[in-house]
Amino acid sequence: MGYKEQIDISRLPQHIAIIMDGNGRWAKEKGKLRVFGHKNGVVSVRDVVEASAELGIKYVTLYTFSSENWNRPRLEVAAIMELMISTINKEIGRFMQNNIRLNAIGDLEMLPEKAYNELTGAIKKTEHNTGLVLTLALSYSSRREIVHAARSLACKVQRGELKPEDINEETFKDNLYTDGMPDPELLIRTSGEYRISNYLLWQIAYAELYFTSKLWPDFRREDLFEAIVDYQKRERRFGLISEQLN
Ligand code: IPE
Ligand code: IPE
Ligand code: MG
Repeated sequence: MGYKEQIDISRLPQHIAIIMDGNGRWAKEKGKLRVFGHKNGVVSVRDVVEASAELGIKYVTLYTFSSENWNRPRLEVAAIMELMISTINKEIGRFMQNNIRLNAIGDLEMLPEKAYNELTGAIKKTEHNTGLVLTLALSYSSRREIVHAARSLACKVQRGELKPEDINEETFKDNLYTDGMPDPELLIRTSGEYRISNYLLWQIAYAELYFTSKLWPDFRREDLFEAIVDYQKRERRFGLISEQLN
């Protein structure tokens, strides 16, 4: 039996977050430039996103480019930005066909103008789609997101719109970039690294973590199904004891 047949459709995670790592090593293994890995990573993105939409997953959030990634060699950064522009341009038709709504989180103003315009244009075009919400974390740092939320709250207090005692988990959450999205129940990281790399620190408080040694360009829908099957075998206790569940 394939992994897909083992999935209990009534217990799907609503939100899957993915740290797509290992593009550079994948290319290096093949004696190619790192950019070749990023290009092939796009094939994995397409496959995983379409499989998620077909399954009925509501939210997929992809770590596409971190704030720290700006410090990579200039040529690699430029190549990733170009790739993002051409990919969004190529995929927009499929997004419309598959009823996918594109979304982005991060310091988007840091993006080169062309990338920013392509991205915001595609977000606008897909805004009425009602299927999968595909969020790209771009120029994203979770610590910055949290600081940004704290600053927004402080401004609201200063303007008299909010009392300090009204700052709680709920209002804090509403000031994160992910406002309106449920927390990811499942976080996947490829490439055999066991770290979070400044991704969704607040939101993954109770996420199930899934690590695989597969490099991102080798990751396909079957691997996603395997991760979901693994997720469904776990007991999520949220601090309780087994007997208290059900
Ligand atoms: C992930 O792959 C993609 C980005 C961070 C943009 P990497 O480029 O980090 O690949 P490795 O980890 O060096 O193999
Ligand atoms: C995390 O991968 C960022 C993305 C996948 C976009 P990195 O390759 O940048 O993370 P580290 O440096 O290994 O922690
Ligand atoms: Mg990496």
